[in-house]
Amino acid sequence: MNHSAVSTPLTARQSRDLQGRVRVPGDKSISHRALILAAMTVGRTRITGLLEGADVLNTAQAMRAVGAWVDREDAGVWSVQGVGVGGFRQPDAPLDFGNSGTGCRLVMGAVAGCPVTVSFDGDASLRKRPMRRVLDPLERMGARATMIADGGRLPLTIQGARDAIPIVYEPPAASAQLKSAVLLAGLAAPGETSVIEKEATRDHTERMLRHFGADIRVEQHGAHGRRITLRGQPELVPAPIAVPADPSSAAFPIVAALIAPGSDVTVEGVMMNPLRTGLFQTLREMGAQIEILAARPEGGEEVADLRIRSSQLRGVDVPAERAPSMIDEYPILAVAASFAEGATRMRGLAELRVKESDRLAATADMLRVNGVDVSIEGDDLIVNGRGHVSGGGEVATHMDHRLAMSALVMGLASENPVSVDDMSFVATSFPGFADLMRGLGADLS
Ligand code: S3P
Repeated sequence: MNHSAVSTPLTARQSRDLQGRVRVPGDKSISHRALILAAMTVGRTRITGLLEGADVLNTAQAMRAVGAWVDREDAGVWSVQGVGVGGFRQPDAPLDFGNSGTGCRLVMGAVAGCPVTVSFDGDASLRKRPMRRVLDPLERMGARATMIADGGRLPLTIQGARDAIPIVYEPPAASAQLKSAVLLAGLAAPGETSVIEKEATRDHTERMLRHFGADIRVEQHGAHGRRITLRGQPELVPAPIAVPADPSSAAFPIVAALIAPGSDVTVEGVMMNPLRTGLFQTLREMGAQIEILAARPEGGEEVADLRIRSSQLRGVDVPAERAPSMIDEYPILAVAASFAEGATRMRGLAELRVKESDRLAATADMLRVNGVDVSIEGDDLIVNGRGHVSGGGEVATHMDHRLAMSALVMGLASENPVSVDDMSFVATSFPGFADLMRGLGADLS
Protein backbone atom coordinates (compact mmCIF):
# COMPACT_ATOMS: atom_id res chain seq x y z
CA MET A 1 0.00 0.00 0.00
CA ASN A 2 2.61 2.51 1.01
CA HIS A 3 5.06 1.49 -1.67
CA SER A 4 5.69 3.70 -4.67
CA ALA A 5 4.38 2.30 -7.92
CA VAL A 6 7.63 3.03 -9.76
CA SER A 7 9.77 -0.04 -10.39
CA THR A 8 13.54 0.24 -10.54
CA PRO A 9 15.31 -2.15 -12.88
CA LEU A 10 18.99 -2.95 -12.29
CA THR A 11 21.62 -5.02 -14.11
CA ALA A 12 24.57 -6.96 -12.69
CA ARG A 13 27.63 -7.66 -14.83
CA GLN A 14 30.57 -10.00 -14.39
CA SER A 15 32.81 -8.72 -11.61
CA ARG A 16 36.05 -10.36 -10.48
CA ASP A 17 38.12 -9.84 -7.35
CA LEU A 18 35.50 -8.57 -4.92
CA GLN A 19 37.52 -7.20 -2.00
CA GLY A 20 36.86 -5.46 1.29
CA ARG A 21 35.36 -5.48 4.77
CA VAL A 22 31.68 -4.66 5.15
CA ARG A 23 28.96 -4.68 7.77
CA VAL A 24 25.43 -5.42 6.67
CA PRO A 25 22.40 -3.78 8.38
CA GLY A 26 20.83 -4.98 11.61
CA ASP A 27 18.86 -8.19 11.82
CA LYS A 28 15.30 -7.80 10.59
CA SER A 29 13.73 -10.37 12.93
CA ILE A 30 15.36 -8.84 16.00
CA SER A 31 14.54 -5.29 14.89
CA HIS A 32 10.80 -6.01 14.64
CA ARG A 33 10.82 -7.77 18.01
CA ALA A 34 12.80 -5.01 19.71
CA LEU A 35 10.21 -2.40 18.74
CA ILE A 36 7.19 -4.54 19.62
CA LEU A 37 8.47 -5.90 22.93
CA ALA A 38 9.91 -2.56 24.03
CA ALA A 39 6.44 -1.11 23.42
CA MET A 40 5.09 -3.70 25.89
CA THR A 41 7.48 -2.74 28.69
CA VAL A 42 6.88 -0.06 31.28
CA GLY A 43 9.56 2.55 30.67
CA ARG A 44 12.08 3.51 28.03
CA THR A 45 14.24 1.14 25.94
CA ARG A 46 17.18 2.25 23.83
CA ILE A 47 17.83 0.23 20.68
CA THR A 48 21.07 0.51 18.71
CA GLY A 49 21.79 -0.98 15.29
CA LEU A 50 18.09 -1.10 14.38
CA LEU A 51 17.47 -2.04 10.76
CA GLU A 52 15.98 1.04 9.11
CA GLY A 53 14.39 -0.93 6.28
CA ALA A 54 10.85 -0.24 5.16
CA ASP A 55 9.49 -3.37 6.90
CA VAL A 56 10.79 -2.33 10.30
CA LEU A 57 9.76 1.32 9.82
CA ASN A 58 6.20 0.09 9.30
CA THR A 59 6.38 -1.78 12.61
CA ALA A 60 7.68 1.39 14.32
CA GLN A 61 4.74 3.29 12.86
CA ALA A 62 2.32 0.58 14.06
CA MET A 63 3.71 0.81 17.60
CA ARG A 64 3.16 4.59 17.56
CA ALA A 65 -0.39 4.04 16.34
CA VAL A 66 -1.18 1.78 19.33
CA GLY A 67 0.19 4.28 21.82
CA ALA A 68 3.94 3.74 22.29
CA TRP A 69 6.37 6.65 21.88
CA VAL A 70 8.94 5.67 19.28
CA ASP A 71 11.74 8.13 18.44
CA ARG A 72 14.70 7.98 16.10
CA GLU A 73 17.65 9.62 17.85
CA ASP A 74 20.35 8.91 15.30
CA ALA A 75 21.14 6.43 12.51
CA GLY A 76 20.04 3.06 13.91
CA VAL A 77 19.54 4.51 17.40
CA TRP A 78 15.94 4.48 18.53
CA SER A 79 14.13 4.84 21.81
CA VAL A 80 10.77 3.33 22.69
CA GLN A 81 8.60 4.33 25.61
CA GLY A 82 6.34 1.37 26.27
CA VAL A 83 2.77 1.21 27.51
CA GLY A 84 3.04 -2.10 29.37
CA VAL A 85 1.52 -5.53 28.67
CA GLY A 86 -2.16 -5.06 27.77
CA GLY A 87 -1.74 -1.30 27.44
CA PHE A 88 -2.15 -0.75 23.71
CA ARG A 89 -4.79 1.75 22.66
CA GLN A 90 -7.08 1.57 19.67
CA PRO A 91 -5.46 3.05 16.56
CA ASP A 92 -7.34 5.67 14.52
CA ALA A 93 -6.67 4.00 11.16
CA PRO A 94 -5.75 0.56 9.77
CA LEU A 95 -2.14 -0.47 10.40
CA ASP A 96 -0.25 -0.79 7.13
CA PHE A 97 2.58 -3.33 7.20
CA GLY A 98 3.65 -2.83 3.60
CA ASN A 99 5.58 -5.95 2.48
CA SER A 100 6.18 -7.45 5.93
CA GLY A 101 4.64 -10.71 7.08
CA THR A 102 6.73 -10.64 10.24
CA GLY A 103 5.65 -7.18 11.37
CA CYS A 104 2.02 -7.94 10.57
CA ARG A 105 1.77 -11.34 12.24
CA LEU A 106 3.74 -10.38 15.35
CA VAL A 107 1.61 -7.28 15.91
CA MET A 108 -1.54 -9.39 15.44
CA GLY A 109 -0.35 -11.45 18.40
CA ALA A 110 0.66 -8.42 20.43
CA VAL A 111 -2.78 -6.74 20.13
CA ALA A 112 -4.82 -9.97 20.42
CA GLY A 113 -4.71 -9.83 24.21
CA CYS A 114 -5.73 -6.17 24.48
CA PRO A 115 -9.35 -4.93 24.44
CA VAL A 116 -8.92 -2.94 21.22
CA THR A 117 -10.08 -3.30 17.63
CA VAL A 118 -7.26 -3.12 15.08
CA SER A 119 -7.36 -3.38 11.28
CA PHE A 120 -4.39 -4.77 9.35
CA ASP A 121 -3.37 -4.23 5.75
CA GLY A 122 -0.35 -4.46 3.51
CA ASP A 123 0.87 -4.27 -0.08
CA ALA A 124 -0.19 -6.56 -2.94
CA SER A 125 2.39 -9.18 -1.91
CA LEU A 126 1.31 -9.25 1.75
CA ARG A 127 -2.36 -9.33 0.71
CA LYS A 128 -1.70 -12.69 -0.96
CA ARG A 129 -0.18 -14.33 2.13
CA PRO A 130 -2.09 -16.67 4.46
CA MET A 131 -3.26 -15.15 7.75
CA ARG A 132 -5.67 -17.91 8.88
CA ARG A 133 -2.75 -19.75 10.42
CA VAL A 134 -2.25 -16.85 12.87
CA LEU A 135 -5.93 -16.10 13.43
CA ASP A 136 -6.75 -19.68 14.48
CA PRO A 137 -4.67 -19.72 17.67
CA LEU A 138 -5.44 -16.07 18.45
CA GLU A 139 -9.18 -16.84 18.28
CA ARG A 140 -8.63 -19.74 20.68
CA MET A 141 -7.06 -17.18 22.99
CA GLY A 142 -10.21 -15.06 22.93
CA ALA A 143 -9.58 -12.62 20.07
CA ARG A 144 -12.10 -12.28 17.22
CA ALA A 145 -11.16 -11.82 13.60
CA THR A 146 -13.65 -10.01 11.37
CA MET A 147 -13.84 -8.46 7.91
CA ILE A 148 -11.32 -10.97 6.60
CA ALA A 149 -10.71 -10.82 2.85
CA ASP A 150 -11.25 -14.02 0.82
CA GLY A 151 -9.17 -17.03 1.75
CA GLY A 152 -8.10 -15.66 5.14
CA ARG A 153 -6.08 -12.77 3.71
CA LEU A 154 -5.55 -9.08 4.43
CA PRO A 155 -7.20 -6.70 4.93
CA LEU A 156 -8.73 -7.92 8.18
CA THR A 157 -9.70 -6.71 11.62
CA ILE A 158 -8.91 -8.20 15.02
CA GLN A 159 -10.95 -7.53 18.13
CA GLY A 160 -8.59 -8.24 20.98
CA ALA A 161 -9.68 -10.30 23.99
CA ARG A 162 -10.81 -8.49 27.12
CA ASP A 163 -9.65 -11.52 29.12
CA ALA A 164 -7.12 -13.47 27.11
CA ILE A 165 -7.03 -17.25 27.57
CA PRO A 166 -3.72 -19.15 27.84
CA ILE A 167 -3.38 -22.10 25.44
CA VAL A 168 -1.09 -24.98 24.59
CA TYR A 169 -0.43 -24.66 20.89
CA GLU A 170 1.28 -26.85 18.30
CA PRO A 171 1.85 -24.82 15.12
CA PRO A 172 0.91 -26.75 11.95
CA ALA A 173 3.96 -25.31 10.16
CA ALA A 174 7.51 -24.59 11.34
CA SER A 175 7.05 -20.83 11.69
CA ALA A 176 8.71 -18.41 14.07
CA GLN A 177 6.07 -15.85 13.20
CA LEU A 178 3.25 -18.12 14.35
CA LYS A 179 5.10 -19.11 17.51
CA SER A 180 5.87 -15.48 18.28
CA ALA A 181 2.29 -14.30 17.68
CA VAL A 182 1.02 -16.83 20.24
CA LEU A 183 3.70 -15.96 22.79
CA LEU A 184 3.03 -12.22 22.43
CA ALA A 185 -0.71 -12.82 22.90
CA GLY A 186 0.13 -15.07 25.86
CA LEU A 187 1.75 -12.12 27.62
CA ALA A 188 -1.74 -10.76 28.34
CA ALA A 189 -3.20 -14.09 29.50
CA PRO A 190 -3.12 -15.34 33.09
CA GLY A 191 -1.26 -18.62 33.73
CA GLU A 192 0.96 -20.39 31.24
CA THR A 193 0.88 -20.29 27.46
CA SER A 194 2.90 -23.02 25.72
CA VAL A 195 4.03 -23.46 22.15
CA ILE A 196 5.25 -26.91 21.09
CA GLU A 197 7.37 -26.87 17.95
CA LYS A 198 8.18 -30.08 16.10
CA GLU A 199 11.12 -28.28 14.53
CA ALA A 200 12.85 -25.47 16.37
CA THR A 201 12.59 -22.12 14.60
CA ARG A 202 14.45 -18.87 15.27
CA ASP A 203 14.25 -18.13 18.99
CA HIS A 204 14.65 -14.35 19.07
CA THR A 205 11.25 -13.78 20.69
CA GLU A 206 12.04 -16.17 23.53
CA ARG A 207 15.47 -14.62 24.10
CA MET A 208 14.11 -11.10 24.08
CA LEU A 209 11.20 -11.91 26.38
CA ARG A 210 13.74 -13.21 28.90
CA HIS A 211 15.88 -10.09 28.34
CA PHE A 212 12.87 -7.93 29.31
CA GLY A 213 12.25 -10.00 32.45
CA ALA A 214 9.51 -12.46 31.40
CA ASP A 215 9.34 -15.87 33.02
CA ILE A 216 9.90 -18.24 30.07
CA ARG A 217 11.10 -21.86 29.98
CA VAL A 218 12.42 -23.70 26.95
CA GLU A 219 12.67 -27.49 26.92
CA GLN A 220 13.80 -29.91 24.25
CA HIS A 221 10.86 -31.63 22.51
CA GLY A 222 11.66 -34.72 20.41
CA ALA A 223 14.71 -34.78 18.17
CA HIS A 224 14.42 -31.32 16.62
CA GLY A 225 11.70 -29.52 18.55
CA ARG A 226 11.12 -27.35 21.60
CA ARG A 227 8.43 -26.71 24.15
CA ILE A 228 8.28 -23.06 25.15
CA THR A 229 6.28 -22.03 28.19
CA LEU A 230 5.56 -18.43 29.09
CA ARG A 231 4.00 -17.22 32.34
CA GLY A 232 1.56 -14.48 31.42
CA GLN A 233 0.92 -11.00 32.78
CA PRO A 234 4.51 -10.14 33.69
CA GLU A 235 5.67 -6.59 34.10
CA LEU A 236 8.23 -6.28 31.32
CA VAL A 237 11.18 -4.09 32.27
CA PRO A 238 13.11 -2.03 29.69
CA ALA A 239 16.65 -3.11 28.88
CA PRO A 240 18.97 -1.87 26.11
CA ILE A 241 19.08 -3.81 22.85
CA ALA A 242 22.03 -3.95 20.43
CA VAL A 243 20.88 -5.47 17.15
CA PRO A 244 23.55 -7.67 15.49
CA ALA A 245 24.12 -7.78 11.71
CA ASP A 246 21.56 -9.85 9.80
CA PRO A 247 22.88 -13.24 8.60
CA SER A 248 20.13 -13.32 5.96
CA SER A 249 21.51 -10.08 4.49
CA ALA A 250 25.13 -11.19 4.93
CA ALA A 251 24.25 -14.15 2.70
CA PHE A 252 24.36 -11.94 -0.43
CA PRO A 253 27.92 -10.54 -0.22
CA ILE A 254 29.05 -13.96 1.06
CA VAL A 255 27.74 -15.90 -1.94
CA ALA A 256 28.93 -13.13 -4.28
CA ALA A 257 32.48 -13.52 -2.92
CA LEU A 258 32.29 -17.31 -3.26
CA ILE A 259 31.28 -17.29 -6.93
CA ALA A 260 33.16 -14.21 -8.25
CA PRO A 261 36.71 -15.43 -8.95
CA GLY A 262 39.61 -13.90 -7.01
CA SER A 263 37.45 -12.51 -4.20
CA ASP A 264 38.38 -12.05 -0.55
CA VAL A 265 35.66 -10.38 1.52
CA THR A 266 35.07 -10.07 5.25
CA VAL A 267 31.56 -9.48 6.60
CA GLU A 268 31.73 -8.16 10.15
CA GLY A 269 29.64 -8.86 13.23
CA VAL A 270 27.29 -11.41 11.64
CA MET A 271 24.81 -13.00 14.03
CA MET A 272 25.64 -16.70 14.42
CA ASN A 273 22.52 -17.91 16.24
CA PRO A 274 22.45 -21.63 15.32
CA LEU A 275 18.79 -21.34 14.34
CA ARG A 276 19.83 -18.89 11.59
CA THR A 277 23.06 -20.31 10.20
CA GLY A 278 21.90 -23.27 8.11
CA LEU A 279 23.16 -21.52 4.96
CA PHE A 280 26.71 -21.16 6.27
CA GLN A 281 26.77 -24.84 7.25
CA THR A 282 25.47 -25.84 3.82
CA LEU A 283 27.95 -23.65 1.94
CA ARG A 284 30.81 -25.15 3.94
CA GLU A 285 29.57 -28.64 3.04
CA MET A 286 29.68 -27.47 -0.59
CA GLY A 287 33.37 -26.64 -0.18
CA ALA A 288 33.07 -22.91 0.55
CA GLN A 289 36.03 -21.27 2.23
CA ILE A 290 34.31 -19.42 5.07
CA GLU A 291 36.51 -18.61 8.03
CA ILE A 292 34.76 -17.76 11.28
CA LEU A 293 36.85 -15.11 13.04
CA ALA A 294 36.55 -13.34 16.37
CA ALA A 295 33.42 -15.14 17.58
CA ARG A 296 32.08 -13.11 20.50
CA PRO A 297 28.85 -12.36 22.33
CA GLU A 298 27.07 -9.15 21.33
CA GLY A 299 23.62 -8.00 22.38
CA GLY A 300 22.60 -11.42 23.74
CA GLU A 301 23.64 -13.26 20.56
CA GLU A 302 26.87 -14.84 19.32
CA VAL A 303 28.41 -12.84 16.45
CA ALA A 304 31.51 -13.37 14.30
CA ASP A 305 33.41 -11.85 11.40
CA LEU A 306 33.20 -14.10 8.34
CA ARG A 307 36.08 -14.13 5.83
CA ILE A 308 35.07 -15.51 2.45
CA ARG A 309 37.34 -16.49 -0.41
CA SER A 310 36.20 -17.61 -3.86
CA SER A 311 35.70 -21.34 -3.89
CA GLN A 312 34.86 -24.11 -6.31
CA LEU A 313 31.60 -25.44 -4.91
CA ARG A 314 30.09 -28.92 -5.29
CA GLY A 315 26.46 -30.00 -5.14
CA VAL A 316 25.04 -31.36 -1.87
CA ASP A 317 21.84 -32.76 -0.42
CA VAL A 318 20.22 -30.29 2.00
CA PRO A 319 18.00 -32.12 4.51
CA ALA A 320 14.46 -30.92 5.21
CA GLU A 321 15.23 -30.57 8.95
CA ARG A 322 17.62 -27.78 8.12
CA ALA A 323 14.98 -25.65 6.42
CA PRO A 324 13.88 -23.65 9.50
CA SER A 325 17.47 -22.47 10.10
CA MET A 326 17.83 -21.15 6.55
CA ILE A 327 14.27 -20.61 5.38
CA ASP A 328 15.01 -17.21 3.82
CA GLU A 329 18.27 -18.33 2.20
CA TYR A 330 17.07 -20.79 -0.46
CA PRO A 331 17.05 -18.29 -3.36
CA ILE A 332 20.68 -17.34 -2.72
CA LEU A 333 21.66 -20.96 -2.02
CA ALA A 334 20.11 -21.87 -5.38
CA VAL A 335 22.39 -19.27 -6.97
CA ALA A 336 25.45 -20.79 -5.26
CA ALA A 337 24.27 -24.26 -6.36
CA SER A 338 24.07 -23.06 -9.99
CA PHE A 339 27.82 -22.32 -9.91
CA ALA A 340 28.64 -25.63 -8.16
CA GLU A 341 29.64 -28.85 -9.90
CA GLY A 342 26.85 -31.44 -9.60
CA ALA A 343 23.33 -31.63 -8.26
CA THR A 344 22.07 -29.83 -5.15
CA ARG A 345 18.78 -31.10 -3.80
CA MET A 346 17.05 -28.80 -1.30
CA ARG A 347 14.39 -30.75 0.52
CA GLY A 348 11.15 -29.83 2.25
CA LEU A 349 10.53 -26.31 0.90
CA ALA A 350 6.72 -26.16 1.11
CA GLU A 351 6.88 -23.00 3.26
CA LEU A 352 8.67 -21.14 0.46
CA ARG A 353 5.40 -21.04 -1.42
CA VAL A 354 3.94 -18.54 1.08
CA LYS A 355 6.78 -16.04 1.40
CA GLU A 356 6.91 -12.54 -0.14
CA SER A 357 6.34 -14.41 -3.41
CA ASP A 358 5.92 -18.08 -4.27
CA ARG A 359 9.66 -18.37 -3.76
CA LEU A 360 9.88 -21.97 -4.85
CA ALA A 361 8.48 -21.22 -8.32
CA ALA A 362 10.14 -17.81 -8.56
CA THR A 363 13.57 -19.17 -7.64
CA ALA A 364 13.28 -21.91 -10.25
CA ASP A 365 12.21 -19.31 -12.86
CA MET A 366 15.14 -17.06 -11.93
CA LEU A 367 17.60 -19.88 -12.62
CA ARG A 368 15.82 -21.11 -15.74
CA VAL A 369 15.87 -17.74 -17.52
CA ASN A 370 19.62 -17.68 -16.90
CA GLY A 371 20.24 -21.05 -18.48
CA VAL A 372 20.48 -23.18 -15.33
CA ASP A 373 19.11 -26.73 -15.28
CA VAL A 374 16.56 -26.68 -12.42
CA SER A 375 13.47 -28.63 -11.44
CA ILE A 376 10.87 -28.86 -8.68
CA GLU A 377 9.87 -32.33 -7.45
CA GLY A 378 7.14 -32.16 -4.81
CA ASP A 379 8.52 -29.73 -2.23
CA ASP A 380 12.15 -30.17 -3.31
CA LEU A 381 14.21 -27.87 -5.51
CA ILE A 382 16.92 -29.55 -7.58
CA VAL A 383 19.66 -27.53 -9.21
CA ASN A 384 22.08 -29.26 -11.57
CA GLY A 385 25.19 -27.11 -11.36
CA ARG A 386 27.74 -27.09 -14.16
CA GLY A 387 30.33 -24.85 -12.50
CA HIS A 388 29.35 -21.85 -14.62
CA VAL A 389 26.16 -20.00 -15.61
CA SER A 390 25.39 -18.39 -18.94
CA GLY A 391 23.09 -15.67 -17.51
CA GLY A 392 21.57 -13.11 -19.85
CA GLY A 393 18.13 -13.37 -18.24
CA GLU A 394 15.66 -10.76 -17.12
CA VAL A 395 14.36 -11.84 -13.72
CA ALA A 396 10.82 -11.12 -12.49
CA THR A 397 11.16 -10.34 -8.78
CA HIS A 398 7.45 -10.42 -7.78
CA MET A 399 7.83 -7.72 -5.05
CA ASP A 400 10.36 -10.02 -3.34
CA HIS A 401 13.55 -8.40 -2.00
CA ARG A 402 15.45 -11.66 -1.65
CA LEU A 403 14.80 -12.72 -5.24
CA ALA A 404 16.06 -9.36 -6.48
CA MET A 405 19.30 -9.57 -4.48
CA SER A 406 19.85 -13.23 -5.41
CA ALA A 407 19.44 -12.52 -9.13
CA LEU A 408 21.88 -9.61 -8.98
CA VAL A 409 24.47 -11.73 -7.18
CA MET A 410 24.05 -14.34 -9.91
CA GLY A 411 24.81 -11.71 -12.54
CA LEU A 412 28.15 -10.85 -10.90
CA ALA A 413 29.55 -14.25 -11.87
CA SER A 414 27.55 -15.34 -14.92
CA GLU A 415 28.89 -15.02 -18.45
CA ASN A 416 26.18 -12.54 -19.52
CA PRO A 417 24.54 -9.77 -17.48
CA VAL A 418 21.50 -10.52 -15.33
CA SER A 419 18.78 -7.88 -14.94
CA VAL A 420 15.97 -7.57 -12.45
CA ASP A 421 12.69 -5.87 -13.29
CA ASP A 422 12.46 -4.11 -9.93
CA MET A 423 14.93 -3.80 -7.11
CA SER A 424 12.95 -1.23 -5.10
CA PHE A 425 11.77 -3.90 -2.61
CA VAL A 426 15.37 -4.48 -1.53
CA ALA A 427 14.83 -1.45 0.73
CA THR A 428 12.46 -3.55 2.87
CA SER A 429 15.37 -5.49 4.40
CA PHE A 430 18.70 -4.23 3.05
CA PRO A 431 18.84 -0.48 2.42
CA GLY A 432 22.18 0.35 0.80
CA PHE A 433 22.58 -3.11 -0.76
CA ALA A 434 23.69 -1.87 -4.19
CA ASP A 435 26.19 0.64 -2.77
CA LEU A 436 27.63 -1.92 -0.36
CA MET A 437 28.11 -4.38 -3.22
CA ARG A 438 29.63 -1.69 -5.46
CA GLY A 439 32.05 -0.88 -2.63
CA LEU A 440 33.33 -4.47 -2.92
CA GLY A 441 33.79 -4.01 -6.67
CA ALA A 442 30.46 -5.27 -8.00
CA ASP A 443 29.30 -3.89 -11.35
CA LEU A 444 25.66 -2.93 -10.78
CA SER A 445 24.00 -0.28 -12.91
C1 S3P B 1 10.65 -14.62 10.50
C2 S3P B 1 10.21 -15.90 10.32
C3 S3P B 1 10.20 -16.58 9.02
C4 S3P B 1 11.02 -15.84 7.98
C5 S3P B 1 10.80 -14.36 8.02
C6 S3P B 1 11.17 -13.81 9.39
C7 S3P B 1 10.60 -14.03 11.86
O1 S3P B 1 8.87 -16.66 8.56
O2 S3P B 1 10.75 -16.32 6.69
O3 S3P B 1 11.58 -13.70 7.06
O4 S3P B 1 11.23 -12.97 12.07
O5 S3P B 1 9.96 -14.62 12.73
P1 S3P B 1 7.88 -17.87 9.00
O6 S3P B 1 7.60 -17.74 10.43
O7 S3P B 1 6.64 -17.67 8.16
O8 S3P B 1 8.62 -19.13 8.63
